[in-house]
Amino acid sequence: MAPAEESTKFEAYPMKSGDGPNSYAKNSTYQREIVDSAKELLQKEIAEKLDIEILLSSNTFHIADLGCSVGPNTFFAVQNILKAVELKSQSQGLNCQISEFQVFFNDHTPNDFNMLFKSLPQNRRYYAAGVPGSFYGRLFPKASIHLFHASFCLHWLSRAPKELADKNSSAWNKGRIHYLNSREEVVKAYEAQHGEDMECFLHARAQEIVCGGLMLLIVPGLLHGASHSHTEAKGSHEVVGSCLMDMARKVS
Ligand SMILES: C[S@@+](CC[C@H](N)C(=O)[O-])C[C@H]1O[C@@H](n2cnc3c(N)ncnc32)[C@H](O)[C@@H]1O
Repeated sequence: MAPAEESTKFEAYPMKSGDGPNSYAKNSTYQREIVDSAKELLQKEIAEKLDIEILLSSNTFHIADLGCSVGPNTFFAVQNILKAVELKSQSQGLNCQISEFQVFFNDHTPNDFNMLFKSLPQNRRYYAAGVPGSFYGRLFPKASIHLFHASFCLHWLSRAPKELADKNSSAWNKGRIHYLNSREEVVKAYEAQHGEDMECFLHARAQEIVCGGLMLLIVPGLLHGASHSHTEAKGSHEVVGSCLMDMARKVS
């Protein structure tokens, strides 16, 4: 499978487009449950941490959902954020200046943005715009976004570490697509790539966020001390991985 390159730097593998039976839009209830289960925490963090100055001094509140895909989960997440920001200003009895919301939907360039735009909620109370490009690079002007949100996408690396495919490397992963039950060198290669990617992500967001703004990042993880092979998705990674290897053998 050749990656759809959006630049020489990043690989992009968008979710299944459209709204057919195999599309992401029709097969993302797992990710929807994650958005739903984060709702209360998100409300609490906005209530406690969003700087009141922002509500008092900005006319338009800018939200960016990074790795939004085609919907509909992104619309539920944005709705939760809007409600939480409004609740915060009401509960503080503020003379809030914010009269409008602008939402930026970001994903890789090959993402099905047409589908996203076609399914935008009719009764939305925000202006919507698409922002194509990798969130591991700069996407927005300096100090322009009040709230960043990203759900279930920051575990996507910008690329597979090169040494995994190098037969002469101690991190060679024998064609496998994950690090479960792999040698320590393989795990370390994935870790190093994630570290490098997160540094780029945080560096870009640090420039783009308004002073006093918030980042709400929902990332799958392991309990402290748990082995890296103990993941809920272990079974599915192994099945998908071995199917991909079979398919690759057939075409080679
Ligand atoms: C599993 S989907 C999650 C989509 C959505 N947030 C949700 O909760 O349903 C992950 C999304 O992240 C996007 N993604 C992965 N890496 C990205 C990157 N570097 N920049 C922008 N989007 C990225 C993918 O294209 C995909 O649409």
